[in-house]
Amino acid sequence: MLTCTYSAGLFGIDGYIVTVECNAYSEIPSFEIVGLPDAAVKEAKQRVQAATANSGYFFPQMAITVNLAPADIKKEGSAFDLAILAALLKISHSIPATTSFDSCCFIGELSFSGSVRSVRGVLPMVLAARDAGKTDIFVPAENAKEAAVVDGVRVYSVDCVTTMVEHFTGKAPLSPVERTVADFSKLYPAKIDFSDVKGQEKAKRAMEIAAAGGHNILLIGPPGAGKSMLAKRLLTILPPMTFGEAITTTKVHSVAGLLGEGQALVSCRPFRSPHHTLSAPALVGGGKNPTPGEISIANNGVLFLDELPEFPKNVSESLRQPLEDGKITITRTAGRVTFPSEFMLVCAMNPCKCGYYGSKIRDCTCKKEDIKKYLAKISGPLLDRIDIQVELPALEYSELSQKGESEPSAAIRERVIGAREFAKERFEGLDITCNASMTTTHIRKFCALDAAGDKILKNAFEAMGMSARGYDRILRVARTIADLDKSESITARHIAEAVQLRSLDRKYWN
Ligand SMILES: Nc1ncnc2c1ncn2[C@@H]1O[C@H](COP(=O)(O)OP(=O)(O)OP(=O)(O)O)[C@@H](O)[C@H]1O
Ligand SMILES: [Mg+2]
Ligand SMILES: [Zn+2]
Repeated sequence: MLTCTYSAGLFGIDGYIVTVECNAYSEIPSFEIVGLPDAAVKEAKQRVQAATANSGYFFPQMAITVNLAPADIKKEGSAFDLAILAALLKISHSIPATTSFDSCCFIGELSFSGSVRSVRGVLPMVLAARDAGKTDIFVPAENAKEAAVVDGVRVYSVDCVTTMVEHFTGKAPLSPVERTVADFSKLYPAKIDFSDVKGQEKAKRAMEIAAAGGHNILLIGPPGAGKSMLAKRLLTILPPMTFGEAITTTKVHSVAGLLGEGQALVSCRPFRSPHHTLSAPALVGGGKNPTPGEISIANNGVLFLDELPEFPKNVSESLRQPLEDGKITITRTAGRVTFPSEFMLVCAMNPCKCGYYGSKIRDCTCKKEDIKKYLAKISGPLLDRIDIQVELPALEYSELSQKGESEPSAAIRERVIGAREFAKERFEGLDITCNASMTTTHIRKFCALDAAGDKILKNAFEAMGMSARGYDRILRVARTIADLDKSESITARHIAEAVQLRSLDRKYWN
């Protein structure tokens, strides 16, 4: 006797539909799962058997083979349990034999006691089920809110085996979970605002430019200047996420197992601030069954590397490729998985070990060669991918004690959104969304200079011993500064400011 049910698997941050074929013969009882299952999938046998028995239902005493199709993708995890259970309950007539599972998709892990446990990646799996034409989706109660974000399907919250059986026998039919109205009101973190930051006008302006063009930024300064404070506030001046961005970000969080119970949608851009003791795989993603790393969890948001020189070189260097590509591909014998990694990188550091090199308020106690060594901890290739550098001096007493509030985030954000809107037309039909992702070809096309601007750049190029990379970087940033001015042409003033935002190379790294 052949019974078919459906479940869903995960590939990267995308789901795919899995057909669960259960074949049962009247023979010596046995139970086998085929279709490239991993160890956790194989263990479904024990879980399904125990859950059935401990819930008081019969487990069919037959020779059972479960085939998970398509057979060429390695199946991982425990989310197929519920689908296998449904098929077997139908074979044993606990669920009426006339029941059709054609429109159904079952997602969930079983415990030995018969309760249904939450799984990772429910949102992408439900999206895949819907796209495959499934309309009745059974999910663990803890994942119900997340699943109910998807429109066009009925989501049923299943807490245990009995709940599912009684739904299909008609003894206690489940009502679909109310569709989660995606809470799109929490676009920004509460309680933090640019108005909290006193002084540091240059750094604030640099943050505004970074936000407008999507540029990576490095903040350098002595302890307590406000570097961490500013970095955390970058989120508050970025445009709100679109619904599409929120779905992608939520998918990553779902796959990484980071959605809180009952959380349906990540609507605020993520801010990730990993400690410098993290490993390269934790940063960029990895593991036997690859899970997203910090760079993917920060997708559409901000990755903040505080105390940059403390990060081991192999860790910070692992950022190079994903910074370039906006995604990361992890290769395993089982196949390749790609996770998105489009984030803004913000780095902060002291200029030396004691923190006061170049400061006016305190003398630096470091030896010259130690300062050099400290700065050399930051790899050139990483510096190359950071368009903007800015120095934050220690605050003067008069600045710190200044009365009244500084400009609020909302006002800065309005200018950032204006600049991005202005740039949008330029990128029509191209695969880029902000100035930071312009390649050399785009730069030649969109960053033409007038004579005065050209002269300033030429002087800077020669005086600073700039590289071709440095030249492109300045043009990209100048384009953003012009966009903030809603100016089609890049003028001398725009170039001059962009050069300023790159002058620390010479001070610290030559
Ligand atoms: N510009 C500022 N305006 C208002 N308060 C500030 C400012 N800069 C620093 N502070 C105060 O000092 C505290 C420390 O600032 P912050 O952590 O941002 O410094 P930092 O530059 O990151 O220092 P460190 O190098 O030690 O990490 C803040 O929590 C805040 O209370
Ligand atoms: Mg700090
Ligand atoms: Zn020092």
